[in-house]
Amino acid sequence: METFSFFRVRDPVFGGMAMEKATVRDVEVRGKRVFVRVDFNVPVEEGRVTDDTRIRAALPTIRYLIDRGARVILASHLGRPKGRADDRYRLDPVARRLEEILGRPVRKVDAAVGPEVEKAAEELKDGDVLLLENVRFEPGEEKNDPALAQAWAKLADLYVNDAFGSAHRAHASTAGLARYLPAVAGFLMEREIGIMGRALARPERPFAAVIGGAKVSDKIGVLRNLIDRVDRLLVGGGMANTFLAAQGRRLGNSLVERDQLDTAREILERASARGTAFALPVDLVVADRFAADAQSRVVTVEEGVPEGWAALDIGPETARRYREILAGAKTVIWNGPMGVFEWAPFAAGTLAVAEAMAAVEGTTIVGGGDSVAAVEQMGLADRMTHISTGGGASLEFLEGRELPGVAALMDRKER
Ligand code: 3PG
Repeated sequence: METFSFFRVRDPVFGGMAMEKATVRDVEVRGKRVFVRVDFNVPVEEGRVTDDTRIRAALPTIRYLIDRGARVILASHLGRPKGRADDRYRLDPVARRLEEILGRPVRKVDAAVGPEVEKAAEELKDGDVLLLENVRFEPGEEKNDPALAQAWAKLADLYVNDAFGSAHRAHASTAGLARYLPAVAGFLMEREIGIMGRALARPERPFAAVIGGAKVSDKIGVLRNLIDRVDRLLVGGGMANTFLAAQGRRLGNSLVERDQLDTAREILERASARGTAFALPVDLVVADRFAADAQSRVVTVEEGVPEGWAALDIGPETARRYREILAGAKTVIWNGPMGVFEWAPFAAGTLAVAEAMAAVEGTTIVGGGDSVAAVEQMGLADRMTHISTGGGASLEFLEGRELPGVAALMDRKER
């Protein structure tokens, strides 16, 4: 794993966030009780974790702490149980999976806070691992309740936040706790912020971004932030329809956000004023209904989408052009698929982008849930420089917003 001795977040892209954050490497951990917030919000089916990527991503920090004789207290949320205990969201399947991949016992308690937890934390020996119950069973978690944060702080000597996926949440376990204990970043947090931050602040150029997904309204912040930074912006997916409609194209029954047409125009004008190459589809794969087995064909944007038909992917000429544009890039950030890639007839555009990124000689970053699922489905995940474990968090990071989970950590110089 690539590591960084520290990471800088001084660039204005981070919304003025504090400077160099301390990491787990900067503090003494031996014999200490360490409260580690991880993001083990993983898919669970019939009591089994079906994708353990996020658990594996936290292993470097957990192993580092175990190897140095720390007493590790892990805490995570799972799902959105809304402040109440809910058996569907218990962390037992996560504990079992963690134990398997860690190759050592993980003690799991059935509460997130309270006497059972205090006793288990006290009983920890150097190198032991304890996993608390889902922190979102506690009503104070999402309210960032200081009393809850203090109760957790009493369990430990040190707080490590390695939950990049939850860093955009100002909750008691992701941000509040940092007020009551020395607070440092784990290796996953460091890596996510380091790689994405460096790409945004000091990219090797040409720097291209591929932005897709269904809606412009979900990605306005990302588009606005990236337009000032990248050399080339490629747009696909449902959101491209709104840009095309803003240019007066016929979109038939395609998803178009009519209330975003002015925003789309403003973004196009800003791109042109800044000299950012802004690529939109020149052709589309259209379908006669929204179904995997719909009838489909290719239309040019010029002829437009027939009434009753809807665009479900970028067309082959667009895919060819996007490949060509990406071939020369040295840094590429991708967020959002080019079409309904889950259905084979509409997956070609997304596959083209994934393959083009895999061939780039430079830094390639995939951020955001759906595009990550796409590169994984296409077997190209290990060809990317970095696949973010954050969905909402990476989106907010790409928007240039301050992430409360990072902002709350100690600056390196504070020690
Ligand atoms: C995620 O899956 O994006 C994170 O775990 C955050 O989950 P949340 O959106 O429920 O806060």
